Amino acid sequence: MARRRIIAGNWKMNKTPSEAVELCKTLKDLVKNDAVDVVYCVPAIDIVPVAETIKGTNVELGAENFYIEDKGAFTGEISAPMLKDAGVKYIIIGHSERRDIFGENDILINAKVKKAFEAGLSPILCCGESLALRKAGTFKEWIKRQITWDLDGVTADQVKKLVIAYEPIWAIGTGETATADQAEEVCKLIRDLIAEMYDSATAEEVRIQYGGSMNAGNAAELLSKPNIDGGLIGGASLKEDFGKIVNA
Ligand code: 13P
Repeated sequence: MARRRIIAGNWKMNKTPSEAVELCKTLKDLVKNDAVDVVYCVPAIDIVPVAETIKGTNVELGAENFYIEDKGAFTGEISAPMLKDAGVKYIIIGHSERRDIFGENDILINAKVKKAFEAGLSPILCCGESLALRKAGTFKEWIKRQITWDLDGVTADQVKKLVIAYEPIWAIGTGETATADQAEEVCKLIRDLIAEMYDSATAEEVRIQYGGSMNAGNAAELLSKPNIDGGLIGGASLKEDFGKIVNA
């Protein structure tokens, strides 16, 4: 079964609501491609205006964060049912910035993956190693441990709908991209691990993205690899270049 390509922008903490609407309008014709899933993962405050602006286009809506309870006394948080009701389909979970800056651990990340599925959202689960782990040569064990912990108790049917993003931390926002071979090596390792944890049919269906300084110049080569089914794009998702990545 051919996996459908998924190109997702992670806008991070960029774009005010009015700037977000402008960006959607700028990108509208550039990201047209019915053969690819195109997703904008936007800041919480941009979700409602972006949902309105992308209506009737091929773009789907994603969010960057949520909390695991449905409602209640959790000042400052938003819940998965709130995202779902606002038209969100995808949710980024386990991004290295949430792990490193906001102290999210694998126990919370695992709970978020399960909650997202329960609420009818599709998680984009991020994993990736630091430069120190890459240099030490222990990055493969690290990635395997992240995935094993983050998917604890997640069913095969759920994993078939999951997107996993391999994002080496040393390549995020640095301009330094993993080579296509380096990215493919880890994406294949992740798929093999899913086959081991579940079965080969599940491994064939799970979509695996690469993320880390992906841009208009390097996307085609990365996306040509057999185990790379898409990209999670930071900086380049805020510019017209994003259209070139969608159509790479
Ligand atoms: P950059 O594309 O800016 O390197 O960011 C990658 C990323 O973290 C996407 O989630």
